[in-house]
Amino acid sequence: MTKESQNLSHRSLDLVKRRSTINLIVVFLAFAIALASVYFTRIIVEQLKERELGIIQLYAKSLEFTVNNENSPSELAFIVRDVLYPNNSIPVIQTNGVGQVLGTRNVEIDQSLSDVEKEEFLKETLKEMKLEYDPIEIPFRNEKGEVFDYQYIYYKNSVLLNRLEYYPHVQLSVIAIFSIIAYIAFSYSKSAEQNRVWVGLAKETAHQLGTPISSLMAWVEYFKEDESLHNKEIIDELEKDIQRLEMITARFSNIGSVPVLNYENVPACVEATVSYLKKRISKKVEINISAKPSDIRARINKPLFDWVIENICKNAVDSMGGIGKIDINIKRAIDDKIIIDITDNGKGIQKSKIKDVFLPGYTTKARGWGLGLTLVKRIIEKNHDGKIFVRNTELNEGTTFRILLKG
Ligand SMILES: Nc1ncnc2c1ncn2[C@@H]1O[C@H](COP(=O)(O)OP(=O)(O)OP(=O)(O)O)[C@@H](O)[C@H]1O
Ligand SMILES: [Mg+2]
Repeated sequence: MTKESQNLSHRSLDLVKRRSTINLIVVFLAFAIALASVYFTRIIVEQLKERELGIIQLYAKSLEFTVNNENSPSELAFIVRDVLYPNNSIPVIQTNGVGQVLGTRNVEIDQSLSDVEKEEFLKETLKEMKLEYDPIEIPFRNEKGEVFDYQYIYYKNSVLLNRLEYYPHVQLSVIAIFSIIAYIAFSYSKSAEQNRVWVGLAKETAHQLGTPISSLMAWVEYFKEDESLHNKEIIDELEKDIQRLEMITARFSNIGSVPVLNYENVPACVEATVSYLKKRISKKVEINISAKPSDIRARINKPLFDWVIENICKNAVDSMGGIGKIDINIKRAIDDKIIIDITDNGKGIQKSKIKDVFLPGYTTKARGWGLGLTLVKRIIEKNHDGKIFVRNTELNEGTTFRILLKG
């Protein structure tokens, strides 16, 4: 490989690599943002929890103060109005020493329930509260200051705190769903745009080739009748070249429009392409075709299908450096699909590059464009509703490409 050619292939490889690096960076950033969001909400939740605990402790202390002291009416009014009453978010259940419910605050009880059901509901809520936090004890003292009884304040997180705890999860799920939809929409519009470029370019090429070809045909006819032209072989060669140009035009015009599919004998089509190819490749490459049965029909567009076989075989020839063997095996699968395996004994493809070979611009060749297999995949999948993939590949042993067509 010359220096220039190495640069060329590295450039296209770089393009593929750069794209996956950008994808990795985007995924990494998304994760970082998600983690940061969860982390900061956690901090806020912790701070709010501490504050709620403070409020509850103040609440308990105030209760303790009211029951253990002789309070003046104004003191009582202050405690009730400014301390006890403002707690309108934290659910609280107050019980006596033996666990009987004395009162509740911010616990929503369905008033349509019967008394028994209400009691049951309170028991359940109490259980929940016990699991969340230890209760706050309020000691009752006699005049001498001795404790003679206890009351307990059970509580749990306020609705606000609970919501805040779930919030980052909800937020992240919504963002994730939105991102997935945006990504699908974006890649769809991107592939639709690429599609238009492919189709437009192909159509235009076919169109532009049309005029010089008709002109050449007219010239050939003219020369055929020219008595003064002695070397008639020139005309035969010219006609072959025109046929080749017509084939190219047919391929471009087919890929530039919705191609017509006809039932064709697949082995016969492959045979025709191979015999055409054999004349143009090294004599040291042997190509064998086996088909069972010999007449396997599938709906294909002949000019495009020929292009597929030609591209895959040319790659196979390139992979073996001019000497080797290509086996083409055509058969019908049990599910009526048609299988075409093209096996070479060339240098194989690295396992990590198997997916890359179908990407536009991926090439390891000095004069390659990395478009052959992209075109092949497009023709098989978009135009024939089939499948193509690397079935098997071993370094320095060979590669098998498999095409699946609908029967
Ligand atoms: N049979 C094969 N054996 C080994 N490598 C292969 C084979 N077929 C394809 N490849 C690898 O896949 C790459 C892409 O193939 P593709 O046909 O798309 O482009 P290309 O042959 O490099 O250029 P061109 O656009 O001229 O076809 C090749 O450069 C080669 O590295
Ligand atoms: Mg190629």
